[in-house]
Amino acid sequence: MKALVLSGGAGTRLRPITHTSAKQLVPVANKPVLFYGLESIAAAGITEVGIIVGDTAREIREAVGDGSRFGLDVTYIPQEAPLGLAHAVLIAREFLGEDDFVMYLGDNFIVGGITDLVEEFRASRPDAQILLTKVPDPRAFGVAELDVDGRVARLEEKPADPRSDLALVGVYLFTPAIHAAVRAVKPSGRGELEITHALQWLIDARATVKSTVISGYWKDTGNVADMLEVNRSVLELIDPLDEGSVDARTEIIGRVRIGRGAAVRGSRIVGPAVIGAGTVVENSYIGPSTSIADNCRVTDSEIEYSIVLSGSSLHGVGRVEASLIGRDVEITPAPHIPAAHRLVLGDHSKVQISA
Ligand code: DAU
Repeated sequence: MKALVLSGGAGTRLRPITHTSAKQLVPVANKPVLFYGLESIAAAGITEVGIIVGDTAREIREAVGDGSRFGLDVTYIPQEAPLGLAHAVLIAREFLGEDDFVMYLGDNFIVGGITDLVEEFRASRPDAQILLTKVPDPRAFGVAELDVDGRVARLEEKPADPRSDLALVGVYLFTPAIHAAVRAVKPSGRGELEITHALQWLIDARATVKSTVISGYWKDTGNVADMLEVNRSVLELIDPLDEGSVDARTEIIGRVRIGRGAAVRGSRIVGPAVIGAGTVVENSYIGPSTSIADNCRVTDSEIEYSIVLSGSSLHGVGRVEASLIGRDVEITPAPHIPAAHRLVLGDHSKVQISA
């Protein structure tokens, strides 16, 4: 079995954070989303991985390399434009050969990995298997309608009026039956060859399309609240590790990971939290559910339940909460005019004024 990981895409439908970089490299607990997917693929016993790359190919290649660090053998497959998920399968035909494969969208995050699913698929080997999850607003997803027996009856891509709250998760298991389907479909209204349509083509051809409903799913929807939550849930599982230097005046409480070359001085860190390599934290408080990436500086500041990307700094700022801070950002206090005390004090007065 092989894996096809989709890490192309042009850079539309993105939040400001990803204007300047690949959305598959958005970090969760200081690790790119894509890496969790690659690790899950390796954990499921798959080693041959094709990665679809587009405009951000250079960045993806730099981050993933030849895949050996994940125990994978990676082949890059350039896609000239994001022409759809089914288009990605079309252009990967030679790489995929006659093997079964898992197609994994690089901006999707599945808590608990895919090992059980891959095993289930290998054992029962339907023509295709999809994952579904209940979402509050299915309009941004492919949506599945199940029949009374729980079989997939109909799939629609981003319907204005969804018929169920079951969204298609970005992990699909395919036999080579999918190749005829992706060749058969025509571009959708948004100009893409939709994998949802290819799956519907299989259903109409009476192929077996199995579905499994999962929980613990996240995708890059541009929603900051969701991203902070997925970061929090991943931090809940981290093991403490100190590869940096922490001075005697610092108090570390709970599970905290401190990266190589990081320095923490005169501070209080309450985990779960991660501090990236080369980051300096001084006279500051880092609270639970916080990820500070590499090469940041946090001095005389307080921050919790937040994500700070690499190269950013916070100097002398009071409590920052529930925030997502991009790369190379500088946060400093706004200059202010001190409020003046006007006093007329009699002889021998004693006054205490808060500074
Ligand atoms: O994430 C789940 C959803 O993914 C499903 O519910 C939808 O049915 C499915 O169509 C897809 O929807 P999106 O519109 O959100 O997909 P997006 O364009 O964000 O692409 C998903 C990933 O695949 C992303 O990492 C970029 C990559 N991609 C996308 C396209 C269209 C490619 O590599 N090539 C492409 O042509």
